[in-house]
Amino acid sequence: MTRVVTVLNQKGGVGKSTATINLAAVRAEMLSAELDPDAISPVAAVSIDPQGSAKWWADRVDSLPFHLVQAHDDPLEWLRQLGNLPGIAEVYVDTAGWFDLDPDASGDGLGDGYSAEALRAVLDVTNEALVPMLTAPMCFDPSARTIRKLLDPRQIPYRVFINDWDTRDGEYWLTETRNFIKAQGWPLAETVVRHYKIHTNASNEGIVVTQYGKGRSAANAASDYYRLAEELSAVGVR
Ligand SMILES: Nc1ncnc2c1ncn2[C@@H]1O[C@H](COP(=O)(O)OP(=O)(O)OP(=O)(O)O)[C@@H](O)[C@H]1O
Ligand SMILES: [Mg+2]
Repeated sequence: MTRVVTVLNQKGGVGKSTATINLAAVRAEMLSAELDPDAISPVAAVSIDPQGSAKWWADRVDSLPFHLVQAHDDPLEWLRQLGNLPGIAEVYVDTAGWFDLDPDASGDGLGDGYSAEALRAVLDVTNEALVPMLTAPMCFDPSARTIRKLLDPRQIPYRVFINDWDTRDGEYWLTETRNFIKAQGWPLAETVVRHYKIHTNASNEGIVVTQYGKGRSAANAASDYYRLAEELSAVGVR
């Protein structure tokens, strides 16, 4: 069985692609440590975002420690098999932002078309969803809609995590965001992924978090994804 972890939030630019790629890299490192050094990676990342920023990034990386597949117009049957990929223990799925989620004929607000069908197919086989959120009120409503309209009706276990918090901004919005999340009763990862320039630059430079240099700032930046990956893998859900 392959564990399917889907990263989603209707809100664009909250760090879905960055989290997908970096969590896949860290988990590949963790899981490969127990394998033969020549074994193929037990981790895959799949992007169903037609804009494909994960693919754009991956195209710049010399050696990616996991498999990456950009799905576009592939038969949906393939996406329905994500939970059964031979030799793959975990798959991380990057999804698109900006879907409407207003009531429509489809019932879930996703509308029709390939992207909607692809997301439905992925949600059907998702073991756990991850919902990145920024410490910004403009992110609250879209996150709530994502959870209420896509995850709750399907009873998909999920965790929210806070991304891109700039320590220089002080704790005010971090605390407000945590309070909002608690008031909603959403499960929140303890790890906060802080804002570091190196995360923004990494996609341009073609590196992933496991390939960051040894400097103190790079190590601090990387440590957030390591802690998040450890926290997420510590508890098995479903
Ligand atoms: N923790 C972080 N520190 C610094 N920059 C970050 C961090 N997380 C994300 N970013 C940057 O923020 C931008 C948006 O991130 P990303 O592309 O991962 O979001 P997304 O949710 O996938 O967006 P979209 O909805 O458009 O697909 C990118 O430029 C990314 O490099
Ligand atoms: Mg993206």
